[in-house]
Amino acid sequence: MQAVTFASTNQNKYREVQSILSTHGIAVDFAQVNLVEIQSFLLEDIAGEKAKSAFAQVGMAVIVEDDGMFIDALKGFPGQYSSHAFKTIGNDGIMKLLAGSADRAASFRSLIAFYDGRHLSISEGRVDGRISDKITEGGWGYDPIFVPAGTNLTFAQLKEKKNEYSHRKKALDNFAQWYTMK
Ligand code: IMP
Repeated sequence: MQAVTFASTNQNKYREVQSILSTHGIAVDFAQVNLVEIQSFLLEDIAGEKAKSAFAQVGMAVIVEDDGMFIDALKGFPGQYSSHAFKTIGNDGIMKLLAGSADRAASFRSLIAFYDGRHLSISEGRVDGRISDKITEGGWGYDPIFVPAGTNLTFAQLKEKKNEYSHRKKALDNFAQWYTMK
């Protein structure tokens, strides 16, 4: 079985990464490290720098993830600032910004960056969807408000079925395809 190390502080992400990569026959070790997250207009740059910072701390080949939720009616906000927006205005703040808006379309992007000290490889996944009318119970991060296309349920309500729809699943499927061929 192949293996890879996932560097993050987020245990929720790790559980999902582990479950998704196990379907590709890849075992996942967890390196709990605080990573430098640069501010940039491009998620690709943020993910690449995060992977290099993780490699420097862990001392072996790693993958890291960077995500963004993009809301059409807010011209893509919070996008690359999703982490900061979650910590400051949170789901309540997003609901307030969208109050009265008929257009609730949104998308979630995930970038998985692999770095082994020489080679940087970035795999992407995206899911289209919308922001729910109210905040639902459970989940983590924006799970209580993001409804992927093809369902009427938020990521939080989908529970373990979230992995069938998520941006993370798509990015990791792409990563696994590259990693198992490399
Ligand atoms: P990060 O850049 O990967 O830390 O993600 C940016 C923000 O999006 C953070 O606030 C995360 O909690 C949130 N986020 C990323 N992926 C998910 C997800 O699958 N569900 C809910 N929130 C997420």
